[in-house]
Amino acid sequence: MKEKMEAIKKAAFEKIEQAKNLDDLNDIKTSILGKKGELTQVLKGMKDVAPEDRPKVGQMVNEARASIEEFLEREKKELNAKIREEKMKNEVIDVTLPAKKLKTGHRHPNQIALDDLERVFVGMGYEVVEGPEVEYDKYNFELLNIPANHPAKDEQDTFYITKDILLRTQTSPVQARVMETGRMPIRIISPGRVFRSDEVDATHSPSFHQVEGLVIDKGITMADLKGTIDQWAKEFFGPETKTKFRPHHFPFTEPSAEADVTCFKCGGKGCRMCKGSGWIEILGCGMVHPKVLKDCGIDPEVYSGFAFGIGLERVTLLKYEIDDMRLLYENDERFLEQF
Ligand code: DAH
Repeated sequence: MKEKMEAIKKAAFEKIEQAKNLDDLNDIKTSILGKKGELTQVLKGMKDVAPEDRPKVGQMVNEARASIEEFLEREKKELNAKIREEKMKNEVIDVTLPAKKLKTGHRHPNQIALDDLERVFVGMGYEVVEGPEVEYDKYNFELLNIPANHPAKDEQDTFYITKDILLRTQTSPVQARVMETGRMPIRIISPGRVFRSDEVDATHSPSFHQVEGLVIDKGITMADLKGTIDQWAKEFFGPETKTKFRPHHFPFTEPSAEADVTCFKCGGKGCRMCKGSGWIEILGCGMVHPKVLKDCGIDPEVYSGFAFGIGLERVTLLKYEIDDMRLLYENDERFLEQF
């Protein structure tokens, strides 16, 4: 019996030593110590052992069992330690590797152009103010000398919330809002979103941006307007840029003009960009109409001023030579990343 016990132990130890993982160890445990295991079988065969030998055999089995269990546990611990070590090795963080690049966004071309534009005007002493996008008819039309039946209202067809409240069609209502405060002198620009019920195409969108400008003080003349626009154009489009003013009509200015700049692509010689004329139209402007001044509470006998309205998308497209306005709104990274 003793030999048998030793043989079982030896075989068990060998098997345990060869075990490669925790599953192997578990299998060995069941095959020896389990219900149908070798040692258990020996205990079950106790009935065939002479009664006086039983305590001895019992003791032997128990001893064998204990030493096998102890060895199993030791091996298990060792194996666990090895597994942990292996895992640590594989999960090592190499701090010398370059970091993963975080993808940061950047300014939209419209915003780059606006920041540029604001920088020039702020440099000339202008204040940047904003007005509401949802506006009263009174500010958007009435106070700007565009009465109910004026054809300009048709051209600037928009989205109405009620009969009197609408999405502003231009940034010009900010003029009226600023004049109404009565604080003089006024020297502001006002960028913002405007709305018209236009179909989307390469040069139109139901929602786009304008930058309004307004200067009111004593003794302001058309020469101030021309000098200001000329200075801005030179700083914005390049020092070679020249400006010219063509007579035009706007209800809220008198006289009114449209301003053109020399084509910065060809320098005025004529090219595809300027459709051969050498000039590119960039804004509407004029001397604030005396009726507008009066309606907004300013005495036109004492004060005068000029106003202008720049289409932000228009100057952005020109500055970056983009030929389709829709690109500005599609949020296609491949396009936006180029600026
Ligand atoms: N509000 C005009 C438009 O949307 C642009 C404009 C023209 C603004 C002349 C002005 C101005 O301030 O004086 O077409």
